[in-house]
Amino acid sequence: MSPYAHITGWGMAVPKRVMTNDDLAKIVDTNDEWVRSRTGIGERHIASDEESSATLGFDASIKALQVARLKPDELDLIIVATSSPEHIFPATACIIQDRLGANKAGAFDLLAACTGFIYALNIATQSIRVGAARNALVVGAETLSRFVDWKDRNTCVLFGDGAGAFVLQAGEQEGGVLSSVMRSDGSGGDLLSLPGGGSKHPATVESVREGLHFIRMNGREVFRFATRVMAQATQDAVEKAQLKIEDIQLVIPHQANERIIETAMRNLKIPMDRCVVNLEHYGNTSTASIPIAVCEAVGDGRLKPGHRVVFVGFGAGLTWGAAVAVWNGPTDGVREVLPYSYRLYTRLRSLARRILRRIEAFIWGRRYPSV
Ligand code: UT7
Repeated sequence: MSPYAHITGWGMAVPKRVMTNDDLAKIVDTNDEWVRSRTGIGERHIASDEESSATLGFDASIKALQVARLKPDELDLIIVATSSPEHIFPATACIIQDRLGANKAGAFDLLAACTGFIYALNIATQSIRVGAARNALVVGAETLSRFVDWKDRNTCVLFGDGAGAFVLQAGEQEGGVLSSVMRSDGSGGDLLSLPGGGSKHPATVESVREGLHFIRMNGREVFRFATRVMAQATQDAVEKAQLKIEDIQLVIPHQANERIIETAMRNLKIPMDRCVVNLEHYGNTSTASIPIAVCEAVGDGRLKPGHRVVFVGFGAGLTWGAAVAVWNGPTDGVREVLPYSYRLYTRLRSLARRILRRIEAFIWGRRYPSV
């Protein structure tokens, strides 16, 4: 029997700095009334110079590991879903891996825009189901504020920074992630994009001048697409789990726009009291929005052990997807893990490895003269 993939840990982190709609109205031609009524957003968190996708992702991961009572070196796999990685490479997942001291884990980034967390959850689940991993960390981490054109009111009011993480663990007891669907349609790639910085438009003076390094979006088209696919993906994932919509206690959707969520729930005939909406305080945190909403739903008692829950999202690509899970909570255990105590140790270990690598390079450089 293949093991089940249980969600045993969760954590979130957001920057301290909060930017309200009124703050935004001081820099672009917008106002609180417009943003609230069109999106549901009231404020968002914005990263400081010291914060990045990796620092936020790390903080969320530490909390998730604490909830799961899992030591970082017990992780086999780390997937970081992000549209705002620290670099094109190395992967943000490897930076987090190093800071955690997860020295037995494979680590990679996954880019499926705002659907990334659903995709990553599915890949981690499948790795556990086939026995390739027993313990996995799935992170959604974003600092999209760095890629937003603060002069473009169509986009800059929407996004916020933050991170969320799940620990997934193999277990014999039936439950955990029951099903997932992943979908895409690249023909809509131009509707939401960040054209610059890749191999097609590497950074040049012209690319900066043309604003290619900022997010571009056709809001109305993305809106239409999102309302259509959210309901369909939810239905597909629920069917795949051999359940009915009535069996679902809670839907935790990607937090992009309250009106999109309401339309999708109406199409699914699910009342809004069975749906988590928290974008008023965070805006759209892309891959982080679902795990952040999960943390809040656990915190306020809306998501309880035994609940059947749907996670559903959509984003650039175009991509969309959904997953159905039975919410279990941490596995039994009395072991207290304090991953913060690893911080100093892992920093020293990382430093020692760097020094060793330099020494090795020096010796090898002398032994093998360059041709
Ligand atoms: O993770 C996926 C990320 N993206 C999304 O989920 C975006 C999905 N789309 C949306 O959420 C909505 O389309 C928006 C919130 C982006 C826009 O709402 P809308 O109701 O579709 O507005 P609109 O684009 O049709 O614009 C209506 C008016 C326009 O003025 P005119 O042309 O009618 O005079 C805009 O220029 O609202 C204007 N407008 C604004 N006004 C004040 C656009 N942005 C703003 C703003 N403040 N921030």
